[in-house]
Amino acid sequence: MAREAARYEAQHPRSRALFERSNHLFGRVPMTWMNKWAGGFPLGFDSAHGAIVTDLDGHELIDFALGDTGAMAGHSPAALVAAVNERIGARGGVTTMLPSEDAEWVAAELSRRFGLAQWSFTLSATDANRWLLRLVRLVTGRAKILVFSYSYHGTVDETFVVAENGRAVSRPGNVGAAVDPATTTRVVEFNDLEGLRRELAHGDVAAVLTEPALTNIGIVLPEPGFLEGVRAACDETGTLLIIDETHTFSAGPGGATRRFNLRPDALTIGKSLGGGVPCGAYGLSGDLAARVHAAVANGADIVDVGGVGGTLAGNPLSLAAMRAVLGQVLTDDVFGPMEMLASAFAQGVHSVIDEHDLDWSISQLGARCEYRFAKPAPTSGGASMRSADALLEDYLHLYGVNRGILITPFHNMALMCPATTREHVDAHQVMFEQAVGELVAGA
Ligand SMILES: Cc1ncc(COP(=O)(O)O)c(C=O)c1O
Repeated sequence: MAREAARYEAQHPRSRALFERSNHLFGRVPMTWMNKWAGGFPLGFDSAHGAIVTDLDGHELIDFALGDTGAMAGHSPAALVAAVNERIGARGGVTTMLPSEDAEWVAAELSRRFGLAQWSFTLSATDANRWLLRLVRLVTGRAKILVFSYSYHGTVDETFVVAENGRAVSRPGNVGAAVDPATTTRVVEFNDLEGLRRELAHGDVAAVLTEPALTNIGIVLPEPGFLEGVRAACDETGTLLIIDETHTFSAGPGGATRRFNLRPDALTIGKSLGGGVPCGAYGLSGDLAARVHAAVANGADIVDVGGVGGTLAGNPLSLAAMRAVLGQVLTDDVFGPMEMLASAFAQGVHSVIDEHDLDWSISQLGARCEYRFAKPAPTSGGASMRSADALLEDYLHLYGVNRGILITPFHNMALMCPATTREHVDAHQVMFEQAVGELVAGA
């Protein structure tokens, strides 16, 4: 590790200088998460095209992190560049609080892909979740929500809860919570249907909010029948089901919702939809939309300061970007090839794990895969959390960066975009074999 850290420092003098002179930035970075980076300082960013990022020191890196999914469409694809230029330059108008023609096109396309009837736009997936939680509490008259332990849905107060010895407790590190989230939220482990039924039986949960597979604590896949069981448990207790597709969109053009034939009452998504231009969206079933409208008729305020909405949300730039990405970049036909590359990536990692008989595993969901230091792959968020090894993650991350391969610094996630090639995957394989070989040999 010390050798890799020294090499990182020696290869990145300009990145280091940028970090050191950023005296007016809180934490020396534009956003404090950028400090979750092995090596003591983050790579300074210069430019990015397709699947390649160029850092401030001129190194080109094959980017499997893709902005932790924000750039799943690849960096600056031509259709996005054209749409943004047209919107900002030729026609003008980034934000007006007026509807543009792109909005209905994007909403109809999201309906086609995910099946939900009505759509509204936000600036992030966090906001999509946040506003939707208000709407589900509004229509059900129930105060609580339920999430799975160690799930992540953005910086949404109600979701920072984990299960510890059968009790809901605030997630370690939760910053400045206004109220103990155990009072707003019920929590069980992913894949624990019995626990879910027990918690929903209280009759005070407005909605279950879940990803179809957890993706923020490694990838924790649903066991056979689990997601159907979640739907049934919701139906039996009058609880709504919200599916968060922000990361699981990697599963196909209609995300895991279409792939697994899910029937959510509402769906949230963000990040990659606009190719990195800030945007998010939530979809409502026709029935849920009608229930919200009924509540509005009774005085709930969704057109002004009632707690749902934002000045820049649904702006024409976001919508032009989403239309370009959905219409011309992340189209139905690109997901198959992206998934094939992810499968090749996973097979390669798997063969190295087998060769060295390591207690590691790799999980895949469509175009996304992630290695984890546990075998077999964990089936709950709690188990996956316990398999984390920060030092090992840092070593593999730095080892890759030092040789031109970028894996997500938050976890060992690798995502394919339409510009990713077999050569990129092979380059990762060479690096991974070498990194693990040296690790095992104690080099
Ligand atoms: C599943 C899921 N939902 C929501 C979010 C929030 O996205 P954002 O930070 O872009 O608001 C994330 C972020 O990682 C996520 O993984």
